[in-house]
This record gives sequence, C-alpha cells and structure tokens, in this order.
Amino acid sequence: MGTAAVEVEWRIARDAAMTDIAKSGTVTAIPELAHSVHVDATGLEPDRMYWYRFRAGGIESPIGRTRTAPAAGTSPSALRFAFASCQNYTQGYYTAHAAMAKEDLHAVLFLGDYIYEGDARGDRVRDYSRRGWAFSLADYRDRYATYKMDPNLQASHAAFPWILTWDDHEVENNYAGGIDPNDSKNKQAIFERTNAYQAYYEHQPLRGPKPNGPALKLYRTLSYGERDWLLAGLAASKAQWNFVTQSVRFSQQDSSPDPTTHRFDGVDNWMGYVVDQRILIDQFAKTRNAVVLSGDSHVDFVYDVKQNWSDPKSPTVATELLGTSISSEGDPFIPATQFDGSAKNPQLRFFDNHRGYVRVTVERARLTADFRAVSTVTQPTATVSTLASFVVDDGRPGVHRA
Ligand SMILES: [Fe+2]
Repeated sequence: MGTAAVEVEWRIARDAAMTDIAKSGTVTAIPELAHSVHVDATGLEPDRMYWYRFRAGGIESPIGRTRTAPAAGTSPSALRFAFASCQNYTQGYYTAHAAMAKEDLHAVLFLGDYIYEGDARGDRVRDYSRRGWAFSLADYRDRYATYKMDPNLQASHAAFPWILTWDDHEVENNYAGGIDPNDSKNKQAIFERTNAYQAYYEHQPLRGPKPNGPALKLYRTLSYGERDWLLAGLAASKAQWNFVTQSVRFSQQDSSPDPTTHRFDGVDNWMGYVVDQRILIDQFAKTRNAVVLSGDSHVDFVYDVKQNWSDPKSPTVATELLGTSISSEGDPFIPATQFDGSAKNPQLRFFDNHRGYVRVTVERARLTADFRAVSTVTQPTATVSTLASFVVDDGRPGVHRA
C-alpha cells in the first residue's frame, strides 16, 4: 500500500443494488493503521438490513450486507445467530463459513482464535504466505492478510454483522495475566500484545477506540473494570434470554480417565478461576435464562451448569453451549458423538468432534441450538449437516433433544 494516506469513500444503502443511499462519507486510511478504516455509520433505522461498499482510487469494493439491532424496548419474535471459533487456516478449508454465509442470521458471534500466531505444523491442507511465528506488527498483519483472503471467510463477513471477542491465539497460546510495564521480563509479552492488538483492531469490524499499547477495550458497556460490569448487567437485566458470550469453557469437566482420581485442567478455562466461576454461577441462579456461549476446545460440548458441581442433583442454573472449531485440529481421526455424560461428568449432555459452527434460534418460549458440521476440511468444498439439535425452554435451564 505504500506510505501515503488514502481517501476512502463509503456508502450505506437501504437496497442491495445500492440506489437508495442512507448515509455516505469519506474517511482517511492511514499507513499507521494498515490503511484500515472503521466507519461508525450512526443514525440508521433499527432492525433492518443495509448494504455497504467502499471506493478508493477509482476502485469499488464488493457490496457487503449488515443488519441493525432492534430498537431498545422492542420485542422481536425471534433472534437467529450463529457462533463459531478457532479457524486455523493451515488445518482446514472454511466450508463452515461458506455454509454460514447462506444461513438466515441476524449476526455472527465469533468467540476467538480468529488467527493462529504459530507456525504451520502437522497435517497442513494449505500454507501461510510467510511461514513462522508472529511476533512483530508486520508478522501479525501478514497473518490477518492470509486469513482475510479466504473467499468463504469474506462471504461470511459480507453477509452479516460480526460480534467478536478474542481468545489466546490472536496473541500467543495460553497467554494470561497482567502486564507491568516496569517489569523487564514482560518486555517481549508487551511487544507481542501491542502488535497483536493493533493488528486485530486494524483487521476486525470494531468501532474503536483504537488500542492503547498492550490494551484494547473489547467489551461493550459503559461502566467497566473488574467483573462488576458483567454482574451488574446480569442483575439489572430484564431480558428474556441472557447470553454470556466469551472464549473458553465455563463448566467443570473431570478429564481423568481413571474412575478413582480427578483431573480438572484449569490454565485455559474457567476451572482456573473457580472463585469468579462461583460468583457467576450464583448470579446465574438469579438470572432469567442464562446461556453461556464458548469456543476454544475444538469440539462441541453442551453442559448443564450446576449450582454445585459435586452434586449432580443440585439445580441446573444455566446452560453452556460450547461450539467446535471452524477448521482448527483438522478432520477428526475417529468421529465421535456422545449424548449425555458419564458418572464422572453427569453435567455433560453432548460431545462431538467434527468441525463446524452452531446455529441458534431464540424465541420467547425456547432456544434451539443446531450443531452444524462439515463433512471434511481437507477439501475446499464439503457437505454441511446438523449433527444434533437441542432446546432450552424458557425458565428451565439445561437442554433437551429437539
Ligand atoms: Fe483454538
């Protein structure tokens, strides 16, 4: 792109042919932000589709479609969204995105691992343009460029608004904890975080504000800090359904194969944060229809969130729907599907190890989750099917088969 700033015209229209223009403007794309633009087209009508396109240097972009949210205080009859996560580019084709783009959805929720910072390894079906780990800003930008060139991913972005959070691989596997700028041991971590967050901001549909060094505010509430924004939001909510949409597994799972011993892996999920998990469970018990949406595990899981994990007879206070990866992990060696858990994990209601995404339809009386799977990610095209469908009834946390 060179080092010059570029003027970019944008238009958003009420029709797919882009003749009925609702808003338009010009923004300057600067090299310091990889010539990205972040237009906040305000003043649109609620709950309707819009189409948009950009023009720069006499070239017009393809037309994208988006959709505004219903006005506050209104009650739409249904909400349809898909949620997905974990799209390791080298491990599989994005057939799940091609299928998602054809669904009838209000939005896509992406729960993290949009890129993988690591080297392409193992059973690769395709390579990065530049091999190796991402550390510098140029590395992360190059990684996004590769991912974003995928036509199926482009189609999925062009069809719906996306609501995003990240997980660890947008920066580095399993990174965690605070960062003290005065601690010299943190220099490399701060360097990577700063670069990764900037590249994330540049390449994702975020309103801003732009990152401040190794910090970027991703969540959308007016009050923030600690976890009170979440608890306060749940406590004050009058909504029929309350989704806690985040990256990693919330529910307890005992992964020890031996019936007499226990193993609760916790570095990369909520079992590493049992105090916060307990506080949230207690709030779920007082919240109408709490549903946790998660990714990260590269398999599908459905859980009853129990008031007390060690007592299977204790009340179910929420439902967790954990969606598999778009492509990460590649095809399952041995496809496996399991309905209902074991003596060790009675809270587990469903397991499957295919690649895909989850389609969710929310009506006042029930939520329906369809676990969608692609037949393979080693070929650029594949069939898509529904592995299983689950229903959560209003006022009754936990799932039953549709
Ligand atoms: Fe992942």
